[in-house]
Amino acid sequence: MSQGFIKSRILVADDDIVQRALLRMILEGEGYGITEVENGREAFEMLSEDPDLKFLITDLNMPLVDGFELIRNIRNKEVRYTYIIVLSASDGRDSLLKALSLGADDYLQKPVHPEELMLRLKAGERLLKLESHEELIFAMAKLAEYRSPETGYHLERVLHYTRALGRDLARNCPELRITAQEAEEIARLSPLHDIGKVAISDSILKKTGALTKEEYELMKGHTTAGGNLIKEIYEKTGSPYLRLAYEIVLYHHERWDGSGYPRGLAGEEIPLSARIVALADVYDAISSKRCYKAAQSHNRVRASIMEQEGEHFDPRVVAAFLRQEDMFVSIQERFQEQECIDACLSATL
Ligand SMILES: [Fe+2]
Ligand SMILES: [Fe+2]
Repeated sequence: MSQGFIKSRILVADDDIVQRALLRMILEGEGYGITEVENGREAFEMLSEDPDLKFLITDLNMPLVDGFELIRNIRNKEVRYTYIIVLSASDGRDSLLKALSLGADDYLQKPVHPEELMLRLKAGERLLKLESHEELIFAMAKLAEYRSPETGYHLERVLHYTRALGRDLARNCPELRITAQEAEEIARLSPLHDIGKVAISDSILKKTGALTKEEYELMKGHTTAGGNLIKEIYEKTGSPYLRLAYEIVLYHHERWDGSGYPRGLAGEEIPLSARIVALADVYDAISSKRCYKAAQSHNRVRASIMEQEGEHFDPRVVAAFLRQEDMFVSIQERFQEQECIDACLSATL
């Protein structure tokens, strides 16, 4: 048996048996594996059960759970990205816009043309490939984080807090010129912020008591160590994405009033990406439990963040935080578990 490239498996959700048969014929002819369902409920169950299903082609009008509800459910609950292509009737412009705004990635008009369908699938495959690169970034960041007492879900929470702040600023602060796309990139790169801790010795990283002045100076070096690491790859590739990673890693401990490190930059000299991650990181550090300190309530953390407005934090980022408070609380609740136990165990190993 030949071991060629294994093509993706595709879930087709449509109540029209003829439409499903047509898609099956086209897709199987191209070597894709197909799973068919008749409504949104079955589709959602299938996607939850089968991690190999990363593509969905869905009709909008279906019984029980329709396509809109299905897209909403997937985007609310997904642990991995599902690429969603909507099948739209030619007259359904409004429903198409609604589907896209709920989070569909692409659409195809009926009747489906095989060549067009293939091109759309290729675009989806490219995106999913990028997605797996991001998972690799996250895995690397996690590896660096394992050595430090901030294990648990610190990185996941920082990513989600960063996303909430970035999206808010993209919507409400046009003067900052940050797009929704950039906000998303900053969020996805945020887990790397402490990657430079790989260069810090265990005796400092795992010390539970206060650091000496000398140890503190060494600890601060995680920003430049991480920055240098990423700069090297950045200079080879010239990728703007890595440039963004570099800024986050190097500058996430700078402070708005210029009293931070490593460079002592102030105000808008500090890249916006780093100003956003700084607040997300500090919010999480104060609001989480560690084995050497208790968690602080959201209200207390909010008070300290407000106190630090214009000192540690960019006032516009603080304003975004205040608009996104509920989101912060729900992210914290969602990624809350085992943290202290894990941290204490790893600190004693
Ligand atoms: Fe840091
Ligand atoms: Fe951190």
